[in-house]
Amino acid sequence: MLDVRDIHTYYGNSYILQGVSLTLEPNRVTGLLGRNGVGKSTLVRSILGLTPARRGEVEMDGEALTRLPTHGIVQRGVGWVPQERRIFPSLTVEENLRINGRSSSANGACRWDLEKIYALFPILEERADSRGTLLSGGEQQMLAVARALMGNPRYLLMDEPSEGLAPLIVRDLGRIIDRLKGEGMGILLVEQNLHFALAHTDSVYVMNKGRVVRQLSPEELREDRELQKTYLGV
Ligand SMILES: Nc1ncnc2c1ncn2[C@@H]1O[C@H](COP(=O)(O)OP(=O)(O)OP(=O)(O)O)[C@@H](O)[C@H]1O
Ligand SMILES: [Mg+2]
Repeated sequence: MLDVRDIHTYYGNSYILQGVSLTLEPNRVTGLLGRNGVGKSTLVRSILGLTPARRGEVEMDGEALTRLPTHGIVQRGVGWVPQERRIFPSLTVEENLRINGRSSSANGACRWDLEKIYALFPILEERADSRGTLLSGGEQQMLAVARALMGNPRYLLMDEPSEGLAPLIVRDLGRIIDRLKGEGMGILLVEQNLHFALAHTDSVYVMNKGRVVRQLSPEELREDRELQKTYLGV
């Protein structure tokens, strides 16, 4: 379990996260929804220690992550698919993957390697020697996910992965998320695409102005037009 408890985060004097709690579990996709600027990415950054919380705790399977440096958090099994993707433009697809490769996962089992990645993302194998700059948006997003997997995470934080992608690519991405969940991963799916989130999550948190305002099932959210209008602007 990845347990996020009462996180308070600032950028300088701006009080952004005002006591956010949520839980990720293995074999589950947890959605995090909310309008632009409510603090979704800041929460992801706080879990990773990139923008450390001023108060609150993050615990993974009973171990405190809160005061570890980012590389220590990643090493213990937290993967990140950044909103901006952050592919190295001058490296090839394969180099982008190798640079995040680890020989073993946190529990000692070697799981993801290039062979397994290419089986899951055939397009990346076809593009293995292409530089980052030459990839389409969809290919970059797949590479961002694949690169995170190379670190053998147990929990994966995906920040708006469907943003700007063509519908067919979004469908592929959905299949990959379902598959990773099936393999036991605990996934945080930050989204603004309500339809996509409803199709691939087991539970959803709705954020507004730095706080969680509701936790509900995707079925409940689908029915609640009022909540959608108020907090998601759809
Ligand atoms: N580096 C920063 N310095 C100062 N303020 C920031 C910084 N990054 C984000 N903010 C502010 O913090 C608030 C939360 O931003 P955040 O990026 O977490 O929102 P978000 O929910 O991820 O939005 P989006 O859906 O647009 O990605 C916003 O008001 C934003 O302007
Ligand atoms: Mg964001």
